[in-house]
Amino acid sequence: IVEGNGVKGLSEIGLKSLPREYIQPLEERMMNVVGGDSIPIIDMSNWDDQKVEDEICDAAEKWGFFQVINHGVPLHVLEKVKDATHRFYEMEAEEKVKYSKENSASKHVRYGSSFSPESEKALEWKDYLSLFYVSDHEAATMWPPPCRDEALEYMKRSEILIKRLLNVLLKRLNVSEIDEKNEALFMGSKRINLNYYPICPNHDLTVAIGRHSDVSTLTVLLQDEIGGLHVRAPNHHDWIHVSPISGALVINIGDALQVMSNGRYKSIEHRVSANGSKTRVSVPIFVNPRPSDVIGPLPQVLANGEQAMYKNVVYSDYVKYFFRKPHDGKMTVEYVK
Ligand code: SIN
Ligand code: FE2
Repeated sequence: IVEGNGVKGLSEIGLKSLPREYIQPLEERMMNVVGGDSIPIIDMSNWDDQKVEDEICDAAEKWGFFQVINHGVPLHVLEKVKDATHRFYEMEAEEKVKYSKENSASKHVRYGSSFSPESEKALEWKDYLSLFYVSDHEAATMWPPPCRDEALEYMKRSEILIKRLLNVLLKRLNVSEIDEKNEALFMGSKRINLNYYPICPNHDLTVAIGRHSDVSTLTVLLQDEIGGLHVRAPNHHDWIHVSPISGALVINIGDALQVMSNGRYKSIEHRVSANGSKTRVSVPIFVNPRPSDVIGPLPQVLANGEQAMYKNVVYSDYVKYFFRKPHDGKMTVEYVK
């Protein structure tokens, strides 16, 4: 009955209780969420002030997560990509299923539900459309029409912000500004996900996304006003809710930058709770090294004599390893220890 309509389809048949495949073990359900604390909010109006640069780098070292306001990405572009996300999921199942793993005409376009169904202990209450950017031409011909222009525009208009953030973060690591030579290592590939989190019965028995850290260099995340994203607190125990701020973007450091900075910048565990009364969307842009590049602690970082905490690894091998295992927390980076 719900073939091709994902978790949204399950949600819409009005189930009274959560199907058992979605029931998470007790320790994976949402616990230890503390109120009162919040990740830093950084105003980027004067992004080249030393003070703002320090705020960005300090947040990346301590929290691994922060929100930016006055970030320069036009607000109408953000509104449009959220609307486009709803439009994609509102299509008929027969239309959406054309983009599933089995049917998609491009390996860079993938519609699906749980993250890694083969290896997961329990399924996640979400649907996603993942768009790996290769070229404008491929985007124009292969990305789904209801959202392709909006997704591409959001990605392009975020480019300046991404470069600005990376340049600020790299400066503290004594790495020179991004140029043609090193650009691929830090931002050589991009993936944009359109995430859809339908209303969930018994929502506290499951999660929308299990705890994980991103494998990116950094991630730019647009969320709507519903909320549900939680990040691990610096005490490694509690979870802190990332309160939606209208017009803001959430930035987080990914594993690749943690490795390259030799552990100075933190790629922090995060998860998304399921919601019993509202549908949520989010649109992350994963900024990644080029797949064929080798990542490891940067020579500029090790120049002061510090010990390398991670081994070098071809980035595509690192990503393959991530997608083979379930969302089980911070374990991916152990692979290169
Ligand atoms: C993610 O971690 O990939 C998504 C986070 C969110 O939806 O807030
Ligand atoms: Fe994530």
